[in-house]
Amino acid sequence: MTARLVVLISGNGSNLQAILDACASGELDATVVSVISNKADAYGLIRAKNAGVESIHFPKLENESRQQYDSRLANYVTTKQSDYIILAGWMKILSSFFLSSFPNRVINLHPALPDTFPGTHAIERAYEAWQCGQIKHTGVMVHLVPDEGVDNGPVLATELVPIFADDTLESLETRVHQTEHSLLTNTLKTILSAKNTELH
Ligand code: GAR
Repeated sequence: MTARLVVLISGNGSNLQAILDACASGELDATVVSVISNKADAYGLIRAKNAGVESIHFPKLENESRQQYDSRLANYVTTKQSDYIILAGWMKILSSFFLSSFPNRVINLHPALPDTFPGTHAIERAYEAWQCGQIKHTGVMVHLVPDEGVDNGPVLATELVPIFADDTLESLETRVHQTEHSLLTNTLKTILSAKNTELH
């Protein structure tokens, strides 16, 4: 059964693009039913439009509490009847007012290994830690989002990303993003095929 995915983004959307490409090529037995951004100028919204996918700017309204925003977002996402909600560069913490509607169905991607560099600028902070001799490599993870813990939750997949002596921040960023694109799509593929096997 073709899975329905909602993808939440805040920016460039290169990981969204990896998902869209994998759906289009048939590598992923899935369809992206909506792309939602909290930022109006997120380039990922254009990527969605180009792929013929619904793209929604969903900002927090003035005078709206976080709880009200999360509930409104959950209500909207519910109408999409999605199997999974993918946080692909969604830079806003979701509270239980959102998460409780989708137990075990919200999946986050983070450009660091479990328990390292949660939050924003993870690659930059890993690069600085490497320069200080504190780490020898970094990585990427895909995990479930059970609660408000930042970039934390049951791990679905990780991949180590080496840091080389001649790396610049830019070259490391490129390697991390390439790793993300394949890890995210491969992890989704594994999850979706496991789900299909369960259904048979
Ligand atoms: C990705 O590196 C993703 O892992 C990161 O934002 C970037 C979005 O890139 N997410 C986080 O840092 C979550 N804490 P993209 O918009 O090109 O997919």
